Amino acid sequence: MNEKIKNVELSPEGSRLVILDQTRLPNEEVWLELGTAEEIYDAIFRLKVRGAPAIGVCAAYGIYILSRKICTDDYSTFYRQFHRYKEYLDSSRPTAVNLNWALERMEGVVTKNREKPVEQIRELLLQESRKIQAEDEAMCRAIGEHGLILLKDGDGILTHCNAGALAATGYGTALAPLYVGTERGMKFHVFADETRPLLQGARLTAYELWKSGIDVTLICDNMASMVMKNGWINACFVGCDRVASNGDTANKIGTSGVAVLAKYYGIPFYVLGPTSTIDMKCPSGADIPIELRDPEEIRSRFYREPEAPLQVRCYNPAFDVTDHSLISGIVTERGLVRPPYDVNLRRLFSEKL
Ligand code: MRU
Repeated sequence: MNEKIKNVELSPEGSRLVILDQTRLPNEEVWLELGTAEEIYDAIFRLKVRGAPAIGVCAAYGIYILSRKICTDDYSTFYRQFHRYKEYLDSSRPTAVNLNWALERMEGVVTKNREKPVEQIRELLLQESRKIQAEDEAMCRAIGEHGLILLKDGDGILTHCNAGALAATGYGTALAPLYVGTERGMKFHVFADETRPLLQGARLTAYELWKSGIDVTLICDNMASMVMKNGWINACFVGCDRVASNGDTANKIGTSGVAVLAKYYGIPFYVLGPTSTIDMKCPSGADIPIELRDPEEIRSRFYREPEAPLQVRCYNPAFDVTDHSLISGIVTERGLVRPPYDVNLRRLFSEKL
């Protein structure tokens, strides 16, 4: 990778979360410093930081920062306020399970160390949040290695939304194999769906791949069928926001359509994501909460003038669920999982690392 994009950091003195504002990309690289619960909630809700793994890291650092604001030495008072902050951040976005996963992990540090002084618990929270970030970087690298096995030099890959470096703190998930392969001298042709309505493909994937010197072609979402038919796509690589225990996968709206097309054209469709995105408590896609967002994102957000009548009713789900039967494999940091997912995901979690 020519240039590693950093997007989430803890400020050196540990009191602020520093993020690259992804809503301003690709035109401006603006860094924001967040210190309050409202600022952190807002950054996640408005997609200033986005992508399941990055949201998890952001939440971990965020709750640590907020724990420093709880001015008490009394454990019960500390925990009560900590839990309130946790629930508040957890309500910022419903679909990406990494948000809840990271916050639960941080809360576990508090409850497991209830006998220790509050000051020490804060220190342990700092260590845990740094660990979550370090694991995230290692996870991206491992997914890159495992995913690369599915590719050969010169392949065409179609991706949807942004599951790259901007969506995590390392190489990302769906794009990680491309970065690892490129480091080894391989060449790929990536087709990035623009990803209506928030254009993560156009604004973020095209931006980060182009910046890294990887061959990328931007297409509108409705062109995916044509590039597949033209024979330009050898595999589809997408990220995930929550994988149910039967393999059904929620990812950015439009992903399931890509999977249906891939099946039609006989192209393998892979989901790449960390085990922290697999929700074994969730039996199927029907149980995944789907975020509904502001109609203005469809009507007017990225256009100089509204592109629809302002009064028109809009339906704006941020994610859809790809049926497990359409997924050729799920690449995690522990390796490739093939169907049947209900059996093989359970096996993945019961295996010792
Ligand atoms: O709404 P977003 O931009 O947060 O949606 C992001 C996605 O759907 C990604 O594909 C997913 O989070 C995986 S990121 C490695």
